[in-house]
Amino acid sequence: MNTQIGTSVHRAAALLLGGSVVGIPTETVYGLAANALDVVAVSEIFKVKNRPRFDPLIVHLPSFKAAKDYTLFIPPMAHRLAEAFCPGPITFLLPKSDRIPDLVTSGSERVAIRVPAHPLTLELLQVCGLPLAAPSANPFGYISPVTAQHVADQLGGKIEYILDGGPSVIGLESTIVGFEGDQVRLYRPGGISIERLEAICGRVATATVSSENHPQAPGMLTSHYAPRKPLRLIDASEAIESDFPSDTLLLCLKRPLQWRGPVLELSATGSLDEAASNLFSALRTMDQSGAPLLLAIPVPEKELGRAINDRLRRAAV
Ligand code: TXA
Ligand code: MG
Repeated sequence: MNTQIGTSVHRAAALLLGGSVVGIPTETVYGLAANALDVVAVSEIFKVKNRPRFDPLIVHLPSFKAAKDYTLFIPPMAHRLAEAFCPGPITFLLPKSDRIPDLVTSGSERVAIRVPAHPLTLELLQVCGLPLAAPSANPFGYISPVTAQHVADQLGGKIEYILDGGPSVIGLESTIVGFEGDQVRLYRPGGISIERLEAICGRVATATVSSENHPQAPGMLTSHYAPRKPLRLIDASEAIESDFPSDTLLLCLKRPLQWRGPVLELSATGSLDEAASNLFSALRTMDQSGAPLLLAIPVPEKELGRAINDRLRRAAV
C-alpha cells in the first residue's frame, strides 16, 4: 500500500467512512484513527500497531457534549474539568454505553473520551460524523509520533493516508482521569498538569501501579514509549563526575555547564512546556544517533515535568 501524506479533510473522512484506518494530527501526538463503532475497522488499528487487545483505545469526539451519546453517566466533576480543559489534552474515563464495542475498551465498563484541540481533526470529526477510536500512531511500545513524517516512517505501507496538521504543539499524550464520586483519579500524567487539574477539582488521587498484563491504563506499563537503544537515567552530578565515553549523548533540559560531550537540550530557556514539545523528537534523534551510550537527566518534577519524567522513566532501561 502506498501511504500518502496530505491535508485533505474530505479524503480522510471518506476513508474513515469506508472503514479504513487514517493517521490524524492532534495537539498531543498523532493518532491512528478508525470508526469507533465499527469493530472491523477497530481491529485494523490493533493489527497495524501490533497492539495487544488488552490495551483499550481512546474515543475522540468533536465536543464534550457528544460524550452523552456514548456514556451512561457523566459525573459533575467531569463536566467541570471539561469546561476548563476541552478541547484539550485530557481524557475522561466514563461508564460506557452499549454503543461502544467491547473491543474499543478491551472489555472494560469504562470508555476513554477525549476532545482533541486540533483544528483539522475537529473539522474531520464534524465532517465524518463518527466517533474516532485512536491510539498514538506508533508501533506498540515505541516512541509516539509528533509529525506526519514520524507516522509515515513507522507505519508507511500499512495505511493509505496521513492527515498532516503540522507538528503536535503539546508533544505529550493526554492526561487520563477517572472519577469516584467527586474524587478525581489520575491514570496517566500528560498534557494537562496535576497543578492545573487541582486548581479546578481539588486534590487528585493517583492510580496505583498496575500489573504488567492487566493494566488499568497500559500507558502505565513500565516499559513503554521506548527507543530501541538502551537509555539510562542519571542525575546531573553523576553525569558530570562520571567518566563516560566522550561520544555519550546526553538528553537534558539545559546543558550542565561542565558536560563536554554531545547534548540534546529540551529547552534552552528551561521551559517545561517547550521541553514537552521537543521530548519525543529528541528521543527519536537519540535512537537514530550513532552514540554508543544514551543518558538522560530528569527534568524538575513539577507541571509538565512530571509527565516528561514519567515518559523518560518508561523509555529507560
Ligand atoms: O493524547 C492522547 O491521548 C493520544 C492522542 C492520539 O489522542 N492518544 C493516546 O492513545 O495516547 P494511546 O492508546 O497511545 O494511549 C491511551 C491510553 C492507553 O494506555 C490505554 O490503556 C488507556 O489510554 N485507555 C484507553 N481506554 C481506556 C479504558 N477504557 N480504561 C482504562 N484505560 C484506557
Ligand atoms: Mg500510545
